[in-house]
Amino acid sequence: MSHIQIPPGLTELLQGYTVEVLRQQPPDLVDFAVDYFTRLREARAQDHSPPAAPPSGPRDLGLGLGLVADADADSESEEDDDLDVPIPTRYDRRVSVCAETFNPDEEEEDTDPRVIHPKTDEQRCRLQDACKDILLFKNLDQEQLSQVLDAMFERIVKVDEHVIDQGDDGDNFYVIERGTYDILVTKDKQTRSVGQYDNRGSFGELALMYNTPRAATIVATSEGSLWGLDRVTFRRIIVKNNAKKRKTFESFIESVPLLKSLEVSERMKIVDVIGEKNYKNGERIITQTKANKDTGNQEVEIARCHKGQYFGELALVTNKPRAASAYAVGDVKCLVMDVQAFERLLGPCMDIMKRNISHYEEQLVKMFGSSVDLIDPGQ
Ligand code: CMP
Repeated sequence: MSHIQIPPGLTELLQGYTVEVLRQQPPDLVDFAVDYFTRLREARAQDHSPPAAPPSGPRDLGLGLGLVADADADSESEEDDDLDVPIPTRYDRRVSVCAETFNPDEEEEDTDPRVIHPKTDEQRCRLQDACKDILLFKNLDQEQLSQVLDAMFERIVKVDEHVIDQGDDGDNFYVIERGTYDILVTKDKQTRSVGQYDNRGSFGELALMYNTPRAATIVATSEGSLWGLDRVTFRRIIVKNNAKKRKTFESFIESVPLLKSLEVSERMKIVDVIGEKNYKNGERIITQTKANKDTGNQEVEIARCHKGQYFGELALVTNKPRAASAYAVGDVKCLVMDVQAFERLLGPCMDIMKRNISHYEEQLVKMFGSSVDLIDPGQ
């Protein structure tokens, strides 16, 4: 039998095309292929000169070009360089003016001068405190984290100030020190609030990660204080780190039953936003906010979660206080996502989660008798 050799770069080439198809859902795959590969050739002809303005992603946060480069992170082929160039297509709806290419595998020397915003000790303390639970920072090493903190700058905002406007190009990522903020999304000419930030959390990562326009408008609903991180530093450190994170967690995420119903690109986005948290034996991971009326103050073990299972979704799905506490049994490593990412990314898994929630009720009824109310009927 003759030996068939796969030409170097073929896999990455087809992968790039496939990802763009999934992202843009073109009506005609052949037309799209002609367009895509023609532009790829044009971009190569420019011989690594900075690419023309890359496409923005669709408003529904489809996979962006930063991610295409990341998707190639496993490949060691030299051809990857070419594929790192974003390929504009006529299916793109608008053009972003500030998107640089990025290949997370390239061990390039950082030639850009480091961004440093000097801070007083007091500012540094406040900054460290605001950043201590930011999931995107959880996987950074000490040096990376200190470069990020050096680059961050303080921004004071007034009531009603628009920190971000949907559709704009991404300039900064923001960590909240204090203040409340509305998240507004306009779709089909209708604007609705999809959530709030209340004195904690972060926003503005999507446009920087995926080179897409801002996906939501963020308006301060009180006076507030934010810490900004510029786009270049964000991409140099956080996006690069995410590529490593993907290598580490991809196969685990693939194996989680709850996430099986998601598309590959949706699972990749989950890897991008999760942070790793470690807990020691006996440490409390979640605190029950209100003792259930039938259990009083007595704590009883109602279930044990193992590798690949999840917990903590109930309060997010029902908008109710935490219904149980969770403790580590032995040393535990959890992958964690915040409530906004949960709502944005896990919509397709909601039915499965709701189904499982009714099992919790059955469990509790068995243990404590009849009246347990974890979820409103009809929710
Ligand atoms: P970005 O698109 O850069 O700017 C707007 C930010 O709003 C976005 O990043 C997210 O950080 C944040 N956000 C929070 N919830 C949502 C949501 N449901 N859809 C889109 N963006 C959201």
